[in-house]
Amino acid sequence: MTVRSRIIGCGSYLPSNVLTNEELAKRVDTSDEWIVTRTGIRQRHIAADGEMTSDLAVAAATQAMEDAGVTAADIDMIIVATATPDNTFPATATKVQNRLGVIGFAFDIQAVCSGFVYALTTADMYIRNGQVKTVLIIGAETFSRILDWQDRRTCVLFGDGAGAVVVQAVEGQGTIEDQGILASRLHSDGGKYNLLYVDGGPSSTQTVGHLQMEGKEVFRHAVTNLAGVIREVLADTGLEPADIDWLVPHQANRRILDSTARKFGISEDKVVITVDRHANTSAASIPLALTEAVHDGRIKRGDIVILEAMGGGFTWGASLIRW
Ligand code: ACO
Repeated sequence: MTVRSRIIGCGSYLPSNVLTNEELAKRVDTSDEWIVTRTGIRQRHIAADGEMTSDLAVAAATQAMEDAGVTAADIDMIIVATATPDNTFPATATKVQNRLGVIGFAFDIQAVCSGFVYALTTADMYIRNGQVKTVLIIGAETFSRILDWQDRRTCVLFGDGAGAVVVQAVEGQGTIEDQGILASRLHSDGGKYNLLYVDGGPSSTQTVGHLQMEGKEVFRHAVTNLAGVIREVLADTGLEPADIDWLVPHQANRRILDSTARKFGISEDKVVITVDRHANTSAASIPLALTEAVHDGRIKRGDIVILEAMGGGFTWGASLIRW
């Protein structure tokens, strides 16, 4: 008998305020045509004044728990993946824990856009070690609060949102026929720190700071690193690219999604895409996309699903799941 971690429910939340490319073009020197051609983004959601990462997280988590048919009493551990916490400390996850009435323990993970894959992999380790049975994992971000809204190179790319999953221990046979997470790989390379970072922080400037990015360099590394880590999880399970039913990528940029899928001969209709409507919501983008594709019936039990992400640090990773 092998313990596996299986996703038993998903949920998401997007702030109601939508900011279109046309509206952005009134604030900075850009155009719908430039943004759509380079990124595939058409609009993004922006949190209302006073609406915090924890609010988005609680909304997504509540939906995921309902979908999974679990209550607060069933949850042993909460992980919130976020780079935009409500406060420097304590962890946003503890605020979420209090609002949901969960007894167990809660902590944040900071791996920027790879945060959800890092959190899922961490939860899988706790579950397979027998420490916990049921975990709530949330990716929640308010990137609108760390953008320089005068900088057209970055402010057009990001949005706010949250997604959540409930993961539970199930018994498997130890084969690739098991449902649940079959393989996960994580990487980081701190040498690329300066290509994507926020120029503030408690210990450096004592300010929150703004997002800074070398777009072309990030793009180049993203395509190479994502292809590498997808190859690793396929090799771990002995599966082939042709076995992949769904690719659920971190939604950074349509061109990154297309180039990654093309490298593996994965057709467009097997890639879940939300970047056009959500823009890049960092750690929230994978659970937002996953919730959409599970709830509309595209992803079905038994399907092979790959989640992959890359973000600041650099960090990157992938999980291969039999749904
Ligand atoms: N509107 C109009 N013009 C713009 C805009 C804009 N919003 N932003 C930049 N430009 C201009 C630049 O100023 C530059 O003008 P210049 O030639 O007169 O100097 C020109 O457009 C080209 O700029 P580049 O930065 O070379 O544009 P590029 O083709 O590289 O596209 C982009 C930029 C879209 C950011 C691209 O590099 C990219 O997608 N990189 C990946 C970054 C990413 O997705 N990051 C997300 C976080 S990381 C992650 O999640 C993986």
